[in-house]
Amino acid sequence: MEFAPGTLVILIGPAGSGKTTYTLRFPDTWRVSLDAYRRLATDDAADQTATPTAAQIQALLLDARLARGLTTIADSTNVHTHVRAGLLARARYYHRPVTAVLFTVPRVVCEQRNAARDRRVPVDVIRTQDAHRPTREQLRDEGFTDIRIAPRTTAPLTVAHR
Ligand code: CTP
Repeated sequence: MEFAPGTLVILIGPAGSGKTTYTLRFPDTWRVSLDAYRRLATDDAADQTATPTAAQIQALLLDARLARGLTTIADSTNVHTHVRAGLLARARYYHRPVTAVLFTVPRVVCEQRNAARDRRVPVDVIRTQDAHRPTREQLRDEGFTDIRIAPRTTAPLTVAHR
């Protein structure tokens, strides 16, 4: 999957749907992640008390990167409309293209992957995120024009950039 330079790529999918794994094929500097900044703030990526701090860090980095026309990937669940609206508004402010990448893996697969990893998200959280997963039509109504479906590969990744 290729993106025009300067694109804000918005990943959308529940925990365990493979978003972070997908980002590994791109330069690591492209990625902004609320989980990563919550972890830096608290040692715990799941500590929701650090979400406001993480959101501020993410906003600073988005402004810095989008102003420079650098491709940036928002690696968070982004399943809620208001969160996507904030990201969309930021990209528009800098006149940058936006691509939505929808992760369509079934909830049971997300739950299985989640259960098999170290950092486990509660199952009811995944269910709620899955229930909020938007459709293509919904994304179009929100103003997204470039909407893609993430590759559902299970093959080992070729990590080109790290
Ligand atoms: N995984 C996998 N096969 C894939 C993609 C992911 O087995 N094609 C595994 C990963 O190795 C990881 C787990 O599934 O152990 C969750 O993948 P991750 O990329 O972390 O999912 P995210 O959607 O980023 O989850 P979160 O929102 O919780 O960060």
